[in-house]
Amino acid sequence: MCGIVGYIGSRSAADVLIQGLKHLEYRGYDSAGIALFIKNQIVIEKSEGRLGNIEKIFRDKRVPLYSSCGIGHTRWATHGKPTTKNAHPHKTGHVVLVHNGIIENYLEIKKELILKGHTPQSETDSELFGFLVLDEMELGASLVTAVRRSFSKLLGQCSVVVMSEREPEKIVGVRNGSPLVVVRDPEGGVVIASDAQPLLPFSREVIFLEHGDLVIATHEGMQVIELESGLEVERKPLSLEWSIEQMDKGGFPHYMLKEIYEQPGVITHTLNQILDRNQKNPFSLFPQPGVNLLNQAQELCLVACGTSWHAALLGKYWIERWSGIPVNVELASEFRYRDPVVRSGTLVIGVSQSGETADTLAVLREMRVRRVPTLGVSNVRGSSIAREADAVFFTSAGPEVGVAATKTFMAQILVMLVFAGYLGFKQKKKSNLEIAQLFNELVKIPHLLSQELEEGSEMLKQIRVTVQNLSHSKGFFFIGRGYSYPLALEGALKLKEIAYDYAEGYAAGELKHGPIAMIDQGMVVVVLAPRDSWRDKTVSNLEEVKARGAMIVGIGDSDDYDLKNLCDDWIPLPSENRSIDAGLLSFILAPVVQLFSYYRAVQKGTDVDKPRNLAKSVTVE
Ligand code: F6R
Repeated sequence: MCGIVGYIGSRSAADVLIQGLKHLEYRGYDSAGIALFIKNQIVIEKSEGRLGNIEKIFRDKRVPLYSSCGIGHTRWATHGKPTTKNAHPHKTGHVVLVHNGIIENYLEIKKELILKGHTPQSETDSELFGFLVLDEMELGASLVTAVRRSFSKLLGQCSVVVMSEREPEKIVGVRNGSPLVVVRDPEGGVVIASDAQPLLPFSREVIFLEHGDLVIATHEGMQVIELESGLEVERKPLSLEWSIEQMDKGGFPHYMLKEIYEQPGVITHTLNQILDRNQKNPFSLFPQPGVNLLNQAQELCLVACGTSWHAALLGKYWIERWSGIPVNVELASEFRYRDPVVRSGTLVIGVSQSGETADTLAVLREMRVRRVPTLGVSNVRGSSIAREADAVFFTSAGPEVGVAATKTFMAQILVMLVFAGYLGFKQKKKSNLEIAQLFNELVKIPHLLSQELEEGSEMLKQIRVTVQNLSHSKGFFFIGRGYSYPLALEGALKLKEIAYDYAEGYAAGELKHGPIAMIDQGMVVVVLAPRDSWRDKTVSNLEEVKARGAMIVGIGDSDDYDLKNLCDDWIPLPSENRSIDAGLLSFILAPVVQLFSYYRAVQKGTDVDKPRNLAKSVTVE
């Protein structure tokens, strides 16, 4: 989604804004722009396409544009095409703004503005806010008052950052839903952004503005007031653990590949962060409000979108198996609008790596109104879901820059398994010995993953060979049963996202209920069939596919020769996998489907880390 950076201080604002926006590129965008105060006038440079276009504009200017105050934006089009005209910042008279989110009543506002004689230049909802501020200032209001009054006319969740030539060297930002974070620059000045990552080079003491906060940044420092009352409020900084080094590619050609390779460490860190190892239950969680919520739950409802939904689905399979507690898994965008019945005793868990996904957040808010307890599972401290759920468990995946979720998925499924083990021990559905065995198997996973990812492993070699053979495929089905089914869905999603291939994930048993009609020689069927209790059934589904001429790529145990013989291409799981319970093979399958898509995307030459049309955190519906 859109990214915002604002800066006022003693450094070159153009440099700070461009560097800051680069840190936000991973969120996805289609145009960019910056506005700088130069001798009390605001100069704007913007362009469709990549940020590099803006850098070029600056390079091409003979005289460097020196400024100590400005705002920048990367736009992910919602209202109006991704053109230069629609790119932010928007200038209306002396008012300049950038905006993230949606103004829901923009049509009414637009009509009123046109009746008043204004002529919006772009197709965006954002630009209209500038006219509202301008009109208020023409009536004599200060910039802050004008922004406050204008904001009260808006419906929807959005944040804006505004400047005016009438009040030079001042930035006013409002957070209303979409995140806005602020740090003090130790060299003097203030940096504002829509996400903490551009702020890390300045300070790790980050202030996450609350919903309904307005920040005023000047060379002297910052002040936060409540949008509604205008009263000053104190907001304490949160110390972020993420370091700027983690934002680097670390020698990998893409962030996505680096993040896939970070997965063994993600498991270890997340376990260390949430498990109290001094208790009888090996899955004991460190005391925190979320533990009480889990203890009281008679039923769970997992709500999520995209990859997080796949993690939740796997969570259902594990939690029900180990604890016997019923679990529903819901797509947030559907759940929120269908008057769902939520029985008393249900704990609603929002699973979201970013903690900002609009639909998941809206479900948690709705549940709060209904007095249903809510829990968040998120990778981002200070995120909206982390702050608005009754309690939160954090995954410790570190910053994920690649748009396609990989290591955060790994961390989410880990938390799902930990919930299964924790609740399983408590519910006594399984013996303590079985739970202890599950834990002993789980702690082997980081080592197994490292071996799996080692250069020279048979798995890696075969993924690359398989991808070479795929060049003319017209579409893909990923199939699996049981614990492999959510991984099949995830494999297909990854391939669509980064390689732009037509791909479907299916429960293997469902193929013959329709999709098998699509199977012919141009199709590739990727079958996930590790040795588990579903393997034989999956293999018989595969026979049906083979009879119809599809190319078959098998992913299974290295010594599963029967399966291998049925397949045109074969990706063996590392033989060390034999040492773990079949119920945990999802951890080992995840990197296989991720790497399969990665190498396919590299083969096709797509923009792996910033795939077209996608955003890292989806803050609009
Ligand atoms: C897939 C992907 C998306 C997200 C989805 C939910 O690689 O990244 O499908 O999983 O947008 O995002 P979060 O987890 O931030 O709620």
